[in-house]
Amino acid sequence: MATDRGHFNTRIGFILAAAGSAVGLGNIWKFPFEVGEGGGAAFVVIYLAFCFLLCFPVMVSEIAIGRKTNLNPVGAFKKLGHKNWAVIGFMGVLAGVLILSFYNVVAGWAFGYFLEMIQGNFGIGEEFGTFITDWQKIGLYGLVFMAITAFIVSRGIHDGIERAATILMPTLFLMIIGLIIYAMTLDGASVGIKYYLVPDFSEITGEVVYSALGQAFFSLSLGMGALITYGSYVSKKQDIVKSAALITLTDVSIAFLAGLMIFPFVAYLTQGTMEGVDGGAGLIFATLPGVFESFGPNLGVVVGALFFLLLCFAALTSTVSLLEVPVSYLVDEKKIKRPVAVWGMAALIFIIGIPSLLGNGSVDSLTQFVQMNKNAEWQYVTFMDFVEAIASDTFLPLGGALISFFVAYVWKKHNLNAEIAIGREGGSQWVAKYIDFAITFFCPVILGLITVVTILDRFFGIVLIG
Ligand code: TRP
Repeated sequence: MATDRGHFNTRIGFILAAAGSAVGLGNIWKFPFEVGEGGGAAFVVIYLAFCFLLCFPVMVSEIAIGRKTNLNPVGAFKKLGHKNWAVIGFMGVLAGVLILSFYNVVAGWAFGYFLEMIQGNFGIGEEFGTFITDWQKIGLYGLVFMAITAFIVSRGIHDGIERAATILMPTLFLMIIGLIIYAMTLDGASVGIKYYLVPDFSEITGEVVYSALGQAFFSLSLGMGALITYGSYVSKKQDIVKSAALITLTDVSIAFLAGLMIFPFVAYLTQGTMEGVDGGAGLIFATLPGVFESFGPNLGVVVGALFFLLLCFAALTSTVSLLEVPVSYLVDEKKIKRPVAVWGMAALIFIIGIPSLLGNGSVDSLTQFVQMNKNAEWQYVTFMDFVEAIASDTFLPLGGALISFFVAYVWKKHNLNAEIAIGREGGSQWVAKYIDFAITFFCPVILGLITVVTILDRFFGIVLIG
């Protein structure tokens, strides 16, 4: 080996780091509400099917490409002998930069809320709208969050990313279990759980299926080479298929547990009606602090601080993986030293995130940035929403479609199968056969269609699924 780019020391270290990338803000605020709106358990079944049937083969492919080449997403395609396909890698690096630029702003909110909860300032929930316009304060929180991310990434794969995940992920798990146990003791908890889990198949519309797919793909951190990058640090002794299965299972489980924690809170707050509460950011930042307040000054501080610390931990292992993608590109391809690449990239991404920071009410032209089709309505959206529509909603499924197409028809499946077989001596054959089948047809076609549907919907207002 020429220079040591770093590597994960243990199998569990890699699994925790990759699961850490997957488990993020998306799991905690998006998944539970999609479940609630999409017919409870009926949605969960569809979501699980997408994760394992459609996303899992893409995950295995990404990890295999990374481990085969030991390179960043751009270098990986070149090393496989297909220079033109490196465009997928470039798109991935760009997606990583863009996603992190706004994701870090939201992570900054979570960090700010953690500090407010510690001080017992529950009123912050009612001031959420003004809180996010305070760009100096949020900017500072975001800066701190980015610095912590950069610090971890600068220490390298084993000492930084693997070690952080090994501490953060088990702690996150314990926090979520603790919060669930407490939530279950609240009045109305069973109503919340029922709302969450009793299947109602009449709610399953084309739109529900479509959003389940998008959510599954984003949640598993696929489509931008994050797992090509992490895969490039994985040893040849590891069974890629088994690891990918465990990563998927962990992500799904944490998302599921988040629902068990949140719905009893909502039931308690609405006294069992489950009405008048919106999903997403509004629920987490505007509504929940009021719930925590009702637990009294001491318990409220503990539960509130724990909840937002949980959110920060979930976000941190994700921001780390988002930063590692462009950093690995600079280190491998441009021969820039890791610390320089890390701090330079973190600074650049923070700057690119400034319009997202200002576009929540501080600067009008960024708050009402462009017209886009959202919730079946042609309306002005924020700069952040716009970047999200391009980077997360468009680039990721497009990247996923191209990666599967590349593996099946350019790199060729026998090469994929050969890489998968390493470290998997004696593993069962049917999974490999399924991956082979899915990557040929199912994955490129479905992900390609999703990309087209999304572009037509968001940017042209042509709603094919709705
Ligand atoms: N999966 C993370 C979440 O659910 C977000 C994320 C982190 C991500 N790294 C990524 C998404 C890489 C796509 C690609 O919040």
